[in-house]
Amino acid sequence: MTDIPADLESLRSQAEAVSENAWSPYSGVKVGAVVVDGDGQAWSGCNMESASYGLTQCAERNALGAAVAAGVKPGELQALVVFSRGFEALSPCGACRQVMSELLTPDATVFSFGSEGVMRSWSMEELFPDPFVLE
Ligand code: THU
Repeated sequence: MTDIPADLESLRSQAEAVSENAWSPYSGVKVGAVVVDGDGQAWSGCNMESASYGLTQCAERNALGAAVAAGVKPGELQALVVFSRGFEALSPCGACRQVMSELLTPDATVFSFGSEGVMRSWSMEELFPDPFVLE
């Protein structure tokens, strides 16, 4: 396991735990995600598939949905942690990057872990430098 700070290890472990609940009978891929605000409050989500494949919701967007339902506003989320069960640390899909860019701060950090404990990380801006915006 990579040497990571205790707070991050706790978030990684939360993301790993929620990945257990993934509903992914079609791909078999189990992903968990946790988003965190500046006070350390966290919300989690896992991927959820459908027999109508295109309706699949990724773990990242489901975690963001939980945060929004709890009242979180754009710019309050400082970090997103992803855990991919049985895979290397995945890089979030394009659809999730767009949604993440609208809710995380541009300097928020996105951490991704795979089952082997290898971590990848990016700033939100690095991950999605020129998002679609309506303003
Ligand atoms: N998946 C995620 O949850 N997050 C990503 O960033 C990429 C893909 C899920 C969606 C689907 O249930 C499975 O992984 C295979 O694509």
